[in-house]
Amino acid sequence: MEKREQLYEGKAKKVFATDDPDVVLVSYKDDATAFNGLKKGTIEGKGVINNRMSNFLMKILEKDGIPTHYIQELNDRETLVKKVTIVPLEVIVRNVAAGSLSKRLGVPEGTPLREPVLEYCYKDDALGDPMVNEYHIAAMGWADDETMEKIAYYALRINDLLIAYFKGANVDLIDFKLEFGKTSDGTLVLADEISPDTCRFWDSETHEKLDKDRFRRDLGGVEEAYQEMRKRLGF
Ligand code: TMP
Ligand code: ASP
Repeated sequence: MEKREQLYEGKAKKVFATDDPDVVLVSYKDDATAFNGLKKGTIEGKGVINNRMSNFLMKILEKDGIPTHYIQELNDRETLVKKVTIVPLEVIVRNVAAGSLSKRLGVPEGTPLREPVLEYCYKDDALGDPMVNEYHIAAMGWADDETMEKIAYYALRINDLLIAYFKGANVDLIDFKLEFGKTSDGTLVLADEISPDTCRFWDSETHEKLDKDRFRRDLGGVEEAYQEMRKRLGF
């Protein structure tokens, strides 16, 4: 597969065309942003860890029946994935109160939720990714009902699989963000990434944060947290 022109540069990744119109090459950067790009920095080695963790987890999910965009890891930072049209939603799954849910509802961080909570945000940087519900999504035509049913089913199934998986690494999956896309034949697949940038990981015993919150909140030990997750998962 031949790497061709750059199609897009996001906050954490670049996307390149290949000689196959249905395949793109994703290249993970060490750049980190928070608060919708307001805070900027670098997390040394993050691109390598996010690339490898995301691929590692997507392979596990595929085996358990979740369709993903993953095709092939090329090297430390680059992966071939199916070209998709992204459903313009951030799909958030929460198991324990933290972050914006804690702020919005006044629930202390660390409070277990009685059941998983699904949230949707409309992907629009200029608007700050506002939270929306199924009615907004249908009314604006961002995704049809059948697609949303699949997204909800996959997101909750992924949550079950990942909770069980991370438990083995002594890590609690507090919450995470997913994105879905449609391939050229219309198949809905899990896209984007699953990494410490897009999940909250807490040590099961000490509740130490092992994710991007260390960067967002200036807690220090950012690189070490990413490395610790790599060590625990053993990829
Ligand atoms: P939140 O509590 O800030 O809404 O974040 C919920 C989860 O979503 C958390 O695991 C971090 C992840 N997330 C992203 O991946 N990208 C984002 O832009 C935001 C705001 C959160
Ligand atoms: N990705 C988000 C940003 O644009 C922030 C975050 O992950 O908190 O800055």
